Amino acid sequence: MSKPVIKTKNLTKYFKTPRGLLHAVESVNLTIEEGKTIGVVGESGCGKTTLGRVITRLEEATSGEVYLEGKEILGLKGSAKRNIYHDIQMIFQDPYSSLNPRLSLGDIIADPIETMGERMSKKDLHELVLSLMDTVGLPPRYYNQYPHELDGGRRQRVGLARALALDPKFIVCDEPVSALDVSIQAQILNLLMDLQEEKKLAYMFITHNLFVVKHISHNIMVMYMGQVVELAEKNELFAHPSHPYTKALLAAIPQPDLSSRGKNRELLAGEVSSPIEPKPGCRFSPRCPYASEKCRAGEIPLKEIAPNHYCVCTLFSN
Ligand SMILES: Nc1ncnc2c1ncn2[C@@H]1O[C@H](COP(=O)(O)OP(=O)(O)O)[C@@H](O)[C@H]1O
Ligand SMILES: [Mg+2]
Repeated sequence: MSKPVIKTKNLTKYFKTPRGLLHAVESVNLTIEEGKTIGVVGESGCGKTTLGRVITRLEEATSGEVYLEGKEILGLKGSAKRNIYHDIQMIFQDPYSSLNPRLSLGDIIADPIETMGERMSKKDLHELVLSLMDTVGLPPRYYNQYPHELDGGRRQRVGLARALALDPKFIVCDEPVSALDVSIQAQILNLLMDLQEEKKLAYMFITHNLFVVKHISHNIMVMYMGQVVELAEKNELFAHPSHPYTKALLAAIPQPDLSSRGKNRELLAGEVSSPIEPKPGCRFSPRCPYASEKCRAGEIPLKEIAPNHYCVCTLFSN
């Protein structure tokens, strides 16, 4: 086993809403090793972005712990808290909204270094920015251009250059290719994978696209309404999906062959409701064909159903 970079312990985030407490992320335990990617999948609203935001401290967790290379970081304050941005970064679906439209690309990429990094001469900074641009495949001619002059793929490269500027160990990638054309998606995914290999980066890759997650991940975590329902090595998960929700999710991948569409497909019809003041037990149980009283009785233990394949379901907890 390689070195764990990020570990969470019972990481939980609730939002106060007028209708009650919304349990966006419930007691998540995960480990991400150096050079590895955990894919986080689940329908819209299941808590993927919130999980990324509490790990990176863009949002304060309600409870739980996050360890960066063994050191707890949610308790850090002041400059120690700011310093975690050297090691932990996040990239977003829409890089445009996170890039200052009034700054040139050179200034955008230099910004985190100037705010957080070592003091350096204008010349060294200029060279560092050019080398970051080179790393993400942006030719020097873009240095003086503005975000609106670029297409989505190049903007995402700028977002990535910015994220890499402080030489992080871990990057949360929140749907970074969802807004891009398919041909450009592949370029960005390959760039992320090349950078991972070169820099031994750990990634949490959030997506609702199961093709993308299969391409980029080593391990996959499936979430439903804030809860982890299944966690396994990628090929194991696709070969032996075990939680009824995971099965439904995989069955919902569009199949060219009509006859292979299982009954599970229909399960995911309709909207997922918000986890406001949720009832105890499995939140998928109202939609689950196998649900029994046991599913609603209380917390269901995480069970290792095969080596490194974990599932939270009463079908396996006996
Ligand atoms: N700032 C917030 N205030 C209240 N509720 C929020 C806030 N951010 C997210 N939520 C709710 O938390 C849940 C998880 O949202 P999110 O993490 O964005 O899901 P995902 O990224 O999987 O689509 C949703 O029910 C969403 O409405
Ligand atoms: Mg999201």
